[in-house]
Amino acid sequence: MTLPTTPPAPAPAPTPMGKGTLSRQLVLRTTALVALVTVALSMFTALASFQILQQQLDSRLESAIERPAFRSRPGSTGTNTGTDEQTSPGDPGGSGLIRVDATLGQDAAGNLVVTLYRDPTRPDSISRATVVQLLAAVANRVNAAPFTVRVNGGGLYRVQVRTDANSVTTMVGLPYSEVTSPMTSQLVMAGLLTIGAVVLSYVAARRVVETSLRPLTRLAATANQVSNLPLESGEGLVPIRVAPQDANPASEVGQVGLAFNHMLDNVENALAVRHRSETKVRQFVADASHELRNPLASIRGYAELTRRGSEELPEDAAHALGRIEAESERMSALVQDLLLLARLDSEPTLDLQPTDVTELVLNAVSDARAASSERTWGLDLPEDPVTARADAHRLHQVVANLLANARTHTPPGTRVETTLRAEGGWAVISVTDNGPGVPEEIRDSVFERFTRADSSRVRQAGGSSTGLGLAIVSAVVNAHGGQVLLDSAPGHTTFSIRIPLA
Ligand SMILES: Nc1ncnc2c1ncn2[C@@H]1O[C@H](COP(=O)(O)OP(=O)(O)O)[C@@H](O)[C@H]1O
Ligand SMILES: [Mg+2]
Repeated sequence: MTLPTTPPAPAPAPTPMGKGTLSRQLVLRTTALVALVTVALSMFTALASFQILQQQLDSRLESAIERPAFRSRPGSTGTNTGTDEQTSPGDPGGSGLIRVDATLGQDAAGNLVVTLYRDPTRPDSISRATVVQLLAAVANRVNAAPFTVRVNGGGLYRVQVRTDANSVTTMVGLPYSEVTSPMTSQLVMAGLLTIGAVVLSYVAARRVVETSLRPLTRLAATANQVSNLPLESGEGLVPIRVAPQDANPASEVGQVGLAFNHMLDNVENALAVRHRSETKVRQFVADASHELRNPLASIRGYAELTRRGSEELPEDAAHALGRIEAESERMSALVQDLLLLARLDSEPTLDLQPTDVTELVLNAVSDARAASSERTWGLDLPEDPVTARADAHRLHQVVANLLANARTHTPPGTRVETTLRAEGGWAVISVTDNGPGVPEEIRDSVFERFTRADSSRVRQAGGSSTGLGLAIVSAVVNAHGGQVLLDSAPGHTTFSIRIPLA
């Protein structure tokens, strides 16, 4: 057990954009949303342009296939063997147009009969072999809607085939790249735009989020400062407030800041009220103890006078007188302890001087030895003297209290070992006994006022138990800036105190 207890450390401030932070989530979500919207828009635009481009291509096919110039062209009636080529005069179909007026069939020698007109501006746009392939591919799709065909080595073609009343079949084809190449560049553009939008939105969202969350970070810093204030003692002043610019009710964070300031005002008021009432109670206890001392002294004086004045007292009167003396002595001790605790509470008026702890411990143990010869009193002192910054009178009282406990709360024959050592800037005094140990039910609260075990044992031992001895030990040691520790089990109980070396 260690006294005093320290408040829990405040949570460490989160790093900006660290895992789990609000800023990180806001930035990532905003960026993801922008990415999603951009991609969806690009897809929609791409689909629309694809349909427009394909419709344009199809209407060009339509107008080309309807052009009468081709219908009346000679040589389309299947007199040629193999593929015959002519240049289409004034082809209005645009670049890449192929036009085949063909009898889809074979001549006697088994050759395909085809008349091919080529785009005069792009004479190499299509090879004879491609046309043959196209015709083979489209043979069963005559009079159907325009469709797309893959030609080995020649890419994709958009093709329409139609047979007129004279059973002349006309095929018109345009390279599908007129749709695919603008689509490719549009998709590349859309991709670049998406990446750009994502990067831009990430940077912008980060800036905006960081700027708008900065007041929140300052608020957290203020809360952390407040949580580090030692509010459990002192007058309960809370000198920290959220800065006015962060407590402006116009913004959400400002409202939190304002509420936080109101809460701090409230806490400060409550602490001040508590401090005032505590001071009053302390003052009352100190005054009462002080006032009780004189009547108690009188009672003891009169008792003593009565005993001395009359030689022969009746037996029951002598017994009653003995009880009066014993109880008034106990009450005097109690009043003295209360007064001391009240003084230590209000302002620890210690007279801190370099004190020879070795001598102090030696004296305390010899006093204990004199008080009880039924116990074995061991002493272990270091070779070099130990000097601590202490109030010699109070420290003596502390050691005497521990030794008195080892005497009153253990059976005769107990061995009590007192050791002193200097250790890491501290003078450490420990009192160990092999008695029954501090009862488990009071072990955690043994340093609190009026904590004591069932007093019948003490009465038997002839001591007077107030339950204030260890409270005084704890208060005095804490006022020295030291610590008290208890380690107790049946057969081995150690109280150790440490106070700073001089
Ligand atoms: N050395 C010890 N061995 C066993 N019990 C102890 C010892 N020291 C203290 N205690 C227990 O702790 C209680 C509180 O001690 P203390 O504050 O000194 O009050 P008091 O001695 O007046 O009872 C005691 O009543 C006793 O039960
Ligand atoms: Mg005691």
